[in-house]
Amino acid sequence: MQPTRRRKDEHIEICLTRPVGSSVSTGLDAVRFEHLALPEIDLDDVDLDTTVLGQRLRAPLLLGAMTGGSTRARRINERLARAAERLGLGMALGSQRAMIEDPRQTGSFRVRDAAPELPLLVGNIGAVQLRKGVAPETLRQAVRDAGADALAFHVNPLQEALQPEGDTCFRGLERLLREAIPRVGVPCIVKEVGAGISPATARRLAALPLAGVEAAGVGGTSWARVEAHRAGGAPAAVAGERLAGWGVPTAESIVACRRAFGRRLVVGSGGIRTGRDVAAAIALGADACALAGPLLGPAQDSEAAVVRALEAILLELRVVMFCTGCRRPVELRRAAARAGRS
Ligand SMILES: Cc1cc2nc3c(=O)[nH]c(=O)nc-3n(C[C@H](O)[C@H](O)[C@H](O)COP(=O)(O)O)c2cc1C
Repeated sequence: MQPTRRRKDEHIEICLTRPVGSSVSTGLDAVRFEHLALPEIDLDDVDLDTTVLGQRLRAPLLLGAMTGGSTRARRINERLARAAERLGLGMALGSQRAMIEDPRQTGSFRVRDAAPELPLLVGNIGAVQLRKGVAPETLRQAVRDAGADALAFHVNPLQEALQPEGDTCFRGLERLLREAIPRVGVPCIVKEVGAGISPATARRLAALPLAGVEAAGVGGTSWARVEAHRAGGAPAAVAGERLAGWGVPTAESIVACRRAFGRRLVVGSGGIRTGRDVAAAIALGADACALAGPLLGPAQDSEAAVVRALEAILLELRVVMFCTGCRRPVELRRAAARAGRS
């Protein structure tokens, strides 16, 4: 089997069967909301509609970037896409490197064949691939072939450094991103994969022609830990476990991204597990949230299992908004500020 494909399947297997949570909290629990016993709104007034990258979603939620590039990944992606379509949510693809290296894998990324009404599809590639000769025109074609509306460049130095086959030269990526982004043909964002974005990095990213950023902070799936499981007895097994809490917690990463990105898109992610987490991330400045790891198990089962998992989160978000008197997600920012003062 081709190495990229094999690695993708190993990642899925490890995330499904081993403990991969990071050793620190997202920080989202520290966001306080005041419970209003007199919210003065009707639960039916709560309206979760949100526009992300120009596409209208029925709630501020995306199914986060995970996979593609193998038969197993194709099944998972199709179930995720159908669930996202059913609920009117956005979906992000896993790294499209597999289809760039082997065009026969393109079908596993073409999820709109299974879910033609999917409102938003975000493509994905490691920024480090720009150093390895993947041209912006190749990315433009990969986005087109997958039918994606936008492209996320992932930056994952922690993960690459712990991977035996990792691409560890990140020199000059800022310049390569600046040159590539305008040539991809769709709006681009940058995302981490669970080690977050610091204030200084957020400011550097904000100077690029990006449509937005995804925080992907520490507190959820730890890619140091995933790679530790893959390392067997090698030093990376020990180092990866020890670094399972390395990085910028999700709450801090969201605040840093919002400050730096002004009115551009900020997606809150990394350890988003509940409707309250979504509410807290939005209160801190996210426009929408993405969750990945928790949807893998349900996607392995069925589309219905993914829908059930997401419906519970959406109901919880709706109830939190009702009990804080918020009709629209953006009002959660004032609700949290009010709770901070009381
Ligand atoms: C099985 C799996 C595969 C992933 N593959 C990718 C990927 O190819 N590209 C990417 O940008 N992020 C990838 N991620 C990272 C997620 O998009 C996300 O940033 C990270 O897991 C933290 O979110 P979580 O705590 O909700 O899982 C993957 C996550 C999982 C669980």
